[in-house]
Amino acid sequence: MATEGQTLEQQLDELLDQERFPPPEDFKANAVISDASIYERAEADFEGFWAEQAEMLDWDTKWDTVLDWSNPPFAKWFVGGKLNVSHNCLDRHVAAGRGDRVAYHWRGEEGEELDITYADLHRDVQKLANALKDVGVAKGDVVAIYLPMVPEVAVAMLACARIGAIHNVVFGGFSAESVKERIEFSEAKVLITVDGARRKGKTAPIKSNVDEVIGDLVDTIVVVRRADNDAPMKQGRDHWYHELLEAAADECPPEPMDAEDPLYILYTSGSTAKPKGILHTTGGYLTGVAYTHRAVFDLKPDEDVYWCAADVGWVTGHSYIIYGPLANGATSVMYEGAPDYPDKDIWWEIVERYKVSILYCAPTAIRACMKWGAEYPERHDLSSLRLLGTVGEPINPKAWLWYWKVIGGGNCPIVDTWWQTETGAIMITTLPGVLEAKPGSAGRPLPGIDAAVVNEQGEDVGTEQGYLTLTRPWPAMLRTLFKEDDRFVETYWDKFGRETYLVGDAARRDEDGYFWIIGRIDDVVNVSGHRLSTAEVESAIVSHPKVAEAAVIGQTDEDTGQAITAFVTLEGSLEGDDELVGAIREQVAGRIGKFARPKRIIWADDLPKTRSGKIMRRLLRDIAEGRELGDVTTLRDPDVMEQLEGKIRERDAEGTG
Ligand code: WT7
Repeated sequence: MATEGQTLEQQLDELLDQERFPPPEDFKANAVISDASIYERAEADFEGFWAEQAEMLDWDTKWDTVLDWSNPPFAKWFVGGKLNVSHNCLDRHVAAGRGDRVAYHWRGEEGEELDITYADLHRDVQKLANALKDVGVAKGDVVAIYLPMVPEVAVAMLACARIGAIHNVVFGGFSAESVKERIEFSEAKVLITVDGARRKGKTAPIKSNVDEVIGDLVDTIVVVRRADNDAPMKQGRDHWYHELLEAAADECPPEPMDAEDPLYILYTSGSTAKPKGILHTTGGYLTGVAYTHRAVFDLKPDEDVYWCAADVGWVTGHSYIIYGPLANGATSVMYEGAPDYPDKDIWWEIVERYKVSILYCAPTAIRACMKWGAEYPERHDLSSLRLLGTVGEPINPKAWLWYWKVIGGGNCPIVDTWWQTETGAIMITTLPGVLEAKPGSAGRPLPGIDAAVVNEQGEDVGTEQGYLTLTRPWPAMLRTLFKEDDRFVETYWDKFGRETYLVGDAARRDEDGYFWIIGRIDDVVNVSGHRLSTAEVESAIVSHPKVAEAAVIGQTDEDTGQAITAFVTLEGSLEGDDELVGAIREQVAGRIGKFARPKRIIWADDLPKTRSGKIMRRLLRDIAEGRELGDVTTLRDPDVMEQLEGKIRERDAEGTG
């Protein structure tokens, strides 16, 4: 074990040999779940187990049937049940006398602080719900939300839920062009956005960017004032959020929703350029997120201060900043800004300031902190922390150990949570009071969840690598792709029969039943835990007039997990230069968002294609990562690879990044 006088580096190196990290005894003794029999109980009566979790919510009408799986893959959970999500997240806590409890300690970029109680949210949500009704939003209508991390984003989502409108949140890092596309796909008639968004001391003119592309697409735009930057307002269409709230009636009774009524659509990237509209419904989703938030984070709502440092625009934010924590009456931190502004210790300042006890973030963030150095966390008292979580991508053992040691002080269990936009809630992890953690493995399927690793024929492969599948329906599962039932079936349920969900990840299960996630097997790239489709980025690149063709791959990257490398062929005899690199990166930023910009652009005279014209991305990945090239005989023109190798060598020699 570590001794005095060792450097941090030496201590971490020694820890690399430790494969198992059991929960500390005092953690176990006080854990929400510490009895391993929960796994068997759920196994013995799977529907009964989920019914028990659903019973922790307030239902207007109880369900008749827990699960209807008679028409797979179209599942129905808690059939006949009625409930309202905003009632469960707000009214019931206020009614129980917890209105004064802080729902969010909000922290702005410039250090502004705001404590928003459950009563505050309850008041504003009702008002905004009424305002939305006043502008014509009815049950079943879609409302697009394009907001930074401001308290109004929670109000907007819950106001939709209150009246049965379906929200479609678009991550603030997406470009206006992407917002427009998602509004079109989801047929939203109303957009809730902001005048300007703060980022590292600058203000991005969000509203004017939206105005440039939106045309007559929506009837109403509600604008939150955040930046005081005189956003242009169009008479009759645009309304200030604060003015609407002032004018709105105070009371808005929650609409009793069917358990299977849609709650939201969230677009995510798939194998093709068109994003997939993941549809989540009401009863099963809320059951799934409330249960997992309590069980996985060992939540004690009266004591804990919980902080999920994701953005609300991704599913992590939906499930574990908004719905899970609020359903459980938790006190959370919501932070607007970047992890390195005004300085690289801002996260740790926040942990100390609000006495955060549970922290949930992405491995990329941990790797960035590691790089910056332990001196930043060491400036602050982090002793309030008692549980740490990660999500979004595999975590390398080195980063895991750094998190455990430097942030957790060696006595906080870490939960590595595997799930997806599609699954709605955490599927695979280690229940922290029950299971030991193994750095690099997400752990085991949660009670009530079943997973398998199979080969091409759908047969279990033991401890070999294979396709990760989920072999039973679960309450928070996606119900379909919005208005694309066929694509839903083809994408997830065709490969192994209609009752097995194809995840899209490769994985391995070890002798202890722990899952080790390898990564995506489709054309999806995971950059800093942000999911992107290679086709989406390619189509953005080829929309540049000088580009003839492009092939995009995810290249292993020390900082961001994967990074985007683009192989680009130019029109005619054009030559690539630094200026064009900049222009192409800007093109991608404008089409998708800055986070999708290629890190590396390689000029190619031609791309490796099969005789039928399909680009062989596998070869491009091999060549970019400097691996031996496998079989190239199926290529139409095997010389292409040699030329490309030359280009890459040239480029690496020049050292241009
Ligand atoms: C993909 C889903 C779930 C919220 C964030 C991402 C990868 C997710 C882990 C993990 C290894 C992970 C998978 C998955 N992934 N969590 N703990 N270990 N890989 O949601 O954008 O829908 O992406 O992220 O590849 O399929 P998403």
